[in-house]
Amino acid sequence: MANVVIVGSQWGDEGKGKVVDIYTEYADQVVRFQGGNNAGHTLVVGDKKTVLHLIPSGILHPGKQCLIGNGVVLDPQVFLQEIDNLKQKGYMQDDAQLVIDGNAHVIMPYHKAIDVARETRSGARKIGTTGRGIGPTYEDKVGRRGIRVADLVNPEAFARKVREFLPEKNFFLEQFLGGTALDEAAIIAEYGGYGRALAKYVGNSSLLINQSIAAGNKILFEGAQGSLLDIDHGTYPYVTSSSTVAGSACIGAGTGPRFLHQVIGISKAYVTRVGEGPFPTELHDAMGQHLREAGNEFGSTTGRPRRCGWFDAVALRYAVRTSGMTGLAITKMDVLNDLATIKLCTAYDYRGQRLEEFPNDLDILRECTPIYEEAEGWQSDLSGATRYRDLPPKAAAYLDKLEEVTGCPVILVSVGPRRDQTIQLKNPFQDGALPSP
Ligand code: IMP
Repeated sequence: MANVVIVGSQWGDEGKGKVVDIYTEYADQVVRFQGGNNAGHTLVVGDKKTVLHLIPSGILHPGKQCLIGNGVVLDPQVFLQEIDNLKQKGYMQDDAQLVIDGNAHVIMPYHKAIDVARETRSGARKIGTTGRGIGPTYEDKVGRRGIRVADLVNPEAFARKVREFLPEKNFFLEQFLGGTALDEAAIIAEYGGYGRALAKYVGNSSLLINQSIAAGNKILFEGAQGSLLDIDHGTYPYVTSSSTVAGSACIGAGTGPRFLHQVIGISKAYVTRVGEGPFPTELHDAMGQHLREAGNEFGSTTGRPRRCGWFDAVALRYAVRTSGMTGLAITKMDVLNDLATIKLCTAYDYRGQRLEEFPNDLDILRECTPIYEEAEGWQSDLSGATRYRDLPPKAAAYLDKLEEVTGCPVILVSVGPRRDQTIQLKNPFQDGALPSP
């Protein structure tokens, strides 16, 4: 009876949404534990495409309860819009399917304004954030001046907190960032409306999850972003403001480490990154352009073109280490279909020295150049493969190589956006399918 954590093992956009959608079949509950609507999870069922930013990707399965844990930051407007979209498409017909924890923090309009104004002011030194107010909301959470979902649904508490915090925010926005002050009464009225609309979804996700675990149910913990965007372990300061590694699942969902049994890292068969920051295997040439076009590498949240490069085993081994990954799901294998040769970075060169481990120091990382091994491309269409034996030998050999250089077993391979374009090698929910961490 395994509970499974899914995390990104690169810089986000690895295709976690699709894997969560598939694994939801084996789980009883799905919980998101960090991040906010900076994420964009694209799901394709039949011909229907759904993009989710906040609601767990398990929501497309009727009867599976989806929870937004205390570790998430919630933009109430986006949350309500997402529910409307889902209902219009025929999903989420039962409101009880979705619960948001009262301790989750609310993204306020001043958080978004500060995020955008700060980035503009930083010019060339910007982080390249999604502009969704994520960083400023987590800052206020840690600074103990945040507004939580439980406050949002309590009109007096909400108004009191807006009155208490807004003057400082407006001062900072106007006097330092050169922005425009926000209106207190307008915020209280607008967000009061959101509070009334979402009150029916508010609950105690920690309690529900732990009751469910006690009843013998299986939980899927859904991470957002990727390990290299982690606030502690990522390429700081070019990171997001939450903990994206697997350990974050405990804190952001309100349960203990002994209930996390398997950790599956999602990784593309190559690498992408959006926003600023070092990226040793980035390709600035026609191959990078090919990956971007073949992989449709444009952000599902901001539409920005993603930076593309070869698979980086040094970075991936680091992700395996910081999350204790027990299996890998390799996505977008089909994007490499046409290539005669595929490169994989297995070590870095730093001033003539061979580095096997991902350096902590960003100045060193910036100077690292990849040391590549080459694999033969399979040059055929994988998009119809549903079993391992459908794969051409060279594609299977590439997967073997990925296992060898990362030290982690590949348990799922995705060869296209649809649910049925997936090869499942091992089921992490099944007892004994994978060694316990
Ligand atoms: P923030 O999370 O909006 O503060 O952005 C910080 C960094 O994380 C920027 O480089 C973003 O592009 C990146 N980022 C945030 N969320 C995602 C995601 O879901 N996928 C990929 N990159 C992300």
